[in-house]
Amino acid sequence: MKVAIIGASGYTGGELIRLLLTHSSAEVTCATSRKLAGTPVVKEHPHLKGGIDLRFENPSAEEVDADFAFLAVPHTAAMSYAAPLLDRGIKIVDLSADYRLPKDVYERVYEVPHTAYFECPYGIPELHRESYGPARFISNPGCFPTGATLAAAPLAGRAHTIIYDSKTGVSGAGDNPSATTHYPNVADNIKCRR
Ligand SMILES: NC(=O)c1ccc[n+]([C@@H]2O[C@H](COP(=O)([O-])OP(=O)(O)OC[C@H]3O[C@@H](n4cnc5c(N)ncnc54)[C@H](OP(=O)(O)O)[C@@H]3O)[C@@H](O)[C@H]2O)c1
Repeated sequence: MKVAIIGASGYTGGELIRLLLTHSSAEVTCATSRKLAGTPVVKEHPHLKGGIDLRFENPSAEEVDADFAFLAVPHTAAMSYAAPLLDRGIKIVDLSADYRLPKDVYERVYEVPHTAYFECPYGIPELHRESYGPARFISNPGCFPTGATLAAAPLAGRAHTIIYDSKTGVSGAGDNPSATTHYPNVADNIKCRR
């Protein structure tokens, strides 16, 4: 399978490449980044040196050449890739939030209109693989529900109440710096969000 990673210069994109390097039937043939187009992938992800000989590119959705694509871009960006890639027969796993929620809930939570909504299977392959069936598009949960669901799975049907206390490091916010990921603001610190 030829695999395209849309948003390959980011944290999830880099981790996806690392995981796919050992996959017996997948080869990453397209790694996108708008800012780093033309740059070797290993320059941004030096830990992958010796594993991948590819440069970032910046194709339009219509130009992506692959059998399978991962959308590793921020929410709102994924929705512009989903339909054009599907129309060309490319199967997709979306790591963003764009297809996790019903349209009205998404628009309320993220305060943006969803311009390319459709319903699709949502879940974690380790637990929900059977329910995907022959799906051509799958939406994956984010880091908090993934951590919580996998941790609680062995207790399903046994525990009366499960209390989650979840914490994320700043890499969960992606590689775009901001005040909430800035070292002096966050080092040796913890911020609660209720
Ligand atoms: N970080 C985590 O722990 C984590 C965990 C679970 C899920 N996720 C989800 O995975 C997605 C990616 O997260 P990340 O942390 O990897 O983000 P990131 O580090 O900020 O990387 C984002 C990637 O998308 C590209 N990109 C940004 N805006 C784009 C646009 N409008 N069109 C096309 N490409 C664009 C960026 O490259 P260019 O700007 O150069 O194009 C970069 O390659 C997000 O939806 C996030 O919520 C992240």
